[in-house]
Amino acid sequence: MAGNQRLAVLQERASGETRVAATPETVKKFIALGASVAVEAGAGLAASIADADYAAAGAEVGEAAAVVAGADIVLGVQGPDMALLAGVKPGAWVVAGLDPFGQGSNGGRARVEAYAAAGLEALAMEFMPRITRAQSMDILSSQSNLAGYKAVVDAAGAYGRAFPMMMTAAGTISAAKAFVMGVGVAGLQAIATARRLGAQVSATDVRSATREQIQSLGAKPIFVENVAGIEGEGAGGYATEMSPEYQAAQAELVSAHVARQDIVITTALIPGRAAPRLITDAQIATMKPGSVIFDLAVAQGGNVEGSVADEIVVRHGVKIMGYSNTPAHLPADASALFARNLYNFLSAFWDKEAGKPVLDAEIGDAVRLTQGGTVVNGRLLA
Ligand code: NAI
Repeated sequence: MAGNQRLAVLQERASGETRVAATPETVKKFIALGASVAVEAGAGLAASIADADYAAAGAEVGEAAAVVAGADIVLGVQGPDMALLAGVKPGAWVVAGLDPFGQGSNGGRARVEAYAAAGLEALAMEFMPRITRAQSMDILSSQSNLAGYKAVVDAAGAYGRAFPMMMTAAGTISAAKAFVMGVGVAGLQAIATARRLGAQVSATDVRSATREQIQSLGAKPIFVENVAGIEGEGAGGYATEMSPEYQAAQAELVSAHVARQDIVITTALIPGRAAPRLITDAQIATMKPGSVIFDLAVAQGGNVEGSVADEIVVRHGVKIMGYSNTPAHLPADASALFARNLYNFLSAFWDKEAGKPVLDAEIGDAVRLTQGGTVVNGRLLA
């Protein structure tokens, strides 16, 4: 029967999480599909969305228990604890960033096991395949893009100098030199942002396909040449781990270059593994005092030796910074894009006759972690 899907949106409870998984815009769109939407009171406040805005969009606004009662689909930015989901329908979907490789008793994996035990169907949005038709559903892209921007803006804020060259009556200020390491979605936006602020920008990556992308943004590519294992592109456009020869050559090239930089933004991630170490303490010691390094991978172990999440560490006069959750520092835009990703995903599969989303194998099997009481995703079973 059409129109009977009940969507629940809870306030995020993870520390430092400011985002929300639905906005008044997506609430309206879900209702237009025939669903009903319930939003926990206060869920949007940190993202500057008032309860009244959700209500005006047609949502029921209430306490958590009332919101999840009878829910078919629970939307989240991060995965809600099982304790919050007691009242959902049997086999309900949990659609969120579930951090399935997260460790610890309350980490992502433990929570995924709890969803399985409760018979819920958990869909991890960070497992969205990197295929053209899924681009609009990809939370990693939408959030990384904002993170790349924010890293540069906050590094600029911590830098005791200006980014652009300025010619003033009191004399000339030279342009800051910014170096972006890892040119995926975040790195491309970091390059563009640093360029807009007037820095001289260079960038590097292990995937040689990024060379042209760096140039097209007006930045200088810094690449290891003639070393085996240069083509670091693995399945799905993700980076693979590099050969030892490549790593040594890269370290040498980077050492010489980093010493001349004012701003370094590191963004290198390898899914399911600790982030690769790109900058050592010895390299930091060669940088000018007052330089700033922003480590976007700090929450995955860090690309930079000595980086600590949510702190500014000063080593050899260089500021090293990074956030455990960078998109959460831009709550309104990050929520708007995240919420649209979830809507684009569910609406693409909305079966009008069934009145609910019905996933296909290519995307469904990629994102589905649990079903029928067990963990079913190959990436977690391997
Ligand atoms: P990511 O977040 O997995 O990694 C960031 C960047 O760091 C990547 O470019 C990676 O090659 C690089 N990196 C890894 N190890 C490194 C090392 N040791 N030294 C230097 N750089 C290193 O990557 P992201 O941002 O998710 O994107 C990767 C690619 O996938 C891009 O080409 C992007 O356009 C593509 N993509 C395609 C999508 C789609 O078609 N639906 C969605 C998202 C991304």
